[in-house]
Amino acid sequence: MNILEATDVSVTFESFGQQIKAVDHVNFQLPRGKTVGIVGESGSGKSTFARVLSGLQLPTGGSVTYLNQPIQNGKQTYQGALRKEVQMVFQDPYGSLNPRMRIVKAIAEAITQHQEMDKKSAIAAAIKLLESMGISGADAFKYPRSLSGGQRQRASVARALSAQPAVLIADEPTSAIDQSAQSQLLGLFNDLIKSGLSIVLVSHDLGVIRYLSDYVYVMKDGVFVESGDTEEVFNNPKEEYTKKLISSIPGRAL
Ligand SMILES: Nc1ncnc2c1ncn2[C@@H]1O[C@H](COP(=O)(O)OP(=O)(O)O)[C@@H](O)[C@H]1O
Ligand SMILES: [Mg+2]
Repeated sequence: MNILEATDVSVTFESFGQQIKAVDHVNFQLPRGKTVGIVGESGSGKSTFARVLSGLQLPTGGSVTYLNQPIQNGKQTYQGALRKEVQMVFQDPYGSLNPRMRIVKAIAEAITQHQEMDKKSAIAAAIKLLESMGISGADAFKYPRSLSGGQRQRASVARALSAQPAVLIADEPTSAIDQSAQSQLLGLFNDLIKSGLSIVLVSHDLGVIRYLSDYVYVMKDGVFVESGDTEEVFNNPKEEYTKKLISSIPGRAL
């Protein structure tokens, strides 16, 4: 059963009279409870496609369905009961965290948007959620700028989870943080996977994708050139482009 599915999706941007086909007639499936990776070089269209899946970008062609229901109605996406089900974590945590709000308050607000709860209970729930992300004590009451990059990224995952979504879409969650923060975030994603969340993981880091994903889609110039079971694709890549990507990983033992 696919929880999220894209059929023949295209996104064309107009820029100075030029047409840029950022996403070009792609099909995609996220089975429920699985993690699907999207990997590819910078500029291949990963973020644009992730934004289409999350309803932030309207496709110029094709459609996305959530449990077989179209997510789009006119210019609106994820209306009504669907609103909370698919949440996105951005590469830049400032995209999801208000810089003028202490993170505990931002997350408490997000909680009350999706659940009936008084302020005090929402703050308590926010503290608990942040604690489960490894942000505890005084750190929960800091402003985003006073947190480390890794903490900020985990706080933005917490914000996305405050809606209790069924699907999490994460765009390059590990790219702006150092090695130790990365392994902490990978551990966190492992826990989310075990909890049964369905995840779309976008990354140019093949190591991250291989570690976490059940299936992988390899993107190049707006199309998926190869897809399949992660180990199958990594052990036996069929496309030249995939082979090149895998062999270009510096000093990483895959
Ligand atoms: N809002 C936009 N307007 C014009 N071009 C865009 C816009 N967003 C992305 N693009 C272009 O679409 C292509 C894919 O970009 P993107 O989805 O960000 O790739 P990736 O996430 O793989 O690096 C790039 O050529 C980029 O310049
Ligand atoms: Mg991107």
